[in-house]
Amino acid sequence: MSDITEFGLNFSNPFTAASGTFGYGGCYTDFYNPDEYGAISLKSVSLKKRIGNPPQRIVETPSGLLNSIGLENIGLDRLIKEKLPFLETLNTNVIASLYAEKAEDFVELTEKFNDIKRINAVELNISCPNVKAGGMAFGNSLEMTASLVKEVKKASFKPLIVKLSPNVTDIGEIAKAAAAEGADAVSLINTISAMVIDTNRMTPVLANKFGGLSGPAILPIAVRMVYQVYEAVSVPIIGGGGITSVDSALQFVMAGASLLSIGIYNFVSPSSIPIIIKEFDEKIKKTGYAYKDIIGIAHR
Ligand code: DHB
Repeated sequence: MSDITEFGLNFSNPFTAASGTFGYGGCYTDFYNPDEYGAISLKSVSLKKRIGNPPQRIVETPSGLLNSIGLENIGLDRLIKEKLPFLETLNTNVIASLYAEKAEDFVELTEKFNDIKRINAVELNISCPNVKAGGMAFGNSLEMTASLVKEVKKASFKPLIVKLSPNVTDIGEIAKAAAAEGADAVSLINTISAMVIDTNRMTPVLANKFGGLSGPAILPIAVRMVYQVYEAVSVPIIGGGGITSVDSALQFVMAGASLLSIGIYNFVSPSSIPIIIKEFDEKIKKTGYAYKDIIGIAHR
């Protein structure tokens, strides 16, 4: 497949590793080189480290995974000191995912990443379902999305991706607000707010009660949302939610995504990732279409 250029960056293939499923870039090196991906997204980072929510924080569901991690992360300083040296050895794009409770902290994080050459783009995580402040509280409001994207865009020298929440009535409207204020791309979907109850203990399984659902269980919802967002905005779409195969990836492209994100499948079958990427390329060639002509083709 020829390279894809989006928001000023070159991608060797459309696949990206979804934030939160690829650590800080180094956790799958026993299986394959992260450069196999067109880009990797790091776990959302905050100014200060976070320990996340109390356990139990993960439970398997039919065709999915429910988690309530709570944005545990090592914080910006340690990311720079401990993780950047490895990231410097990679040749693929690296996307920093940012999390903060307040707009001014998002701006501070953005400014810090302006100075780090190895980070090719920043992604605003305004759609985590597992925290009380920030997260979905930003991403579920048109006004808050718009004002945050505006502030951050003013501060950013790098392409700005906004990760959208599916836990809204009209994701197209939120995408429009982000794009209108200068988002260079939107990424969707983040996890869907959900719950599992332990019928023996008669309580929610997760200590946080609710979590974010991901995996193949959410694939058709994610494809529908990418389709809607493609009709709402003209910025590039990073589509994902339950990609486990060439077919599931291709559905997102036909719905309108030019880039793709793989999440939970990194956990399930890491060694399948390079195979999916290669077979996807072969499948595109077999269609006889140029890749760019397949993007959004289901809208015809
Ligand atoms: C977490 C963050 C997310 O954005 C998400 O979709 C799921 C979980 C978290 O760290 O809790």
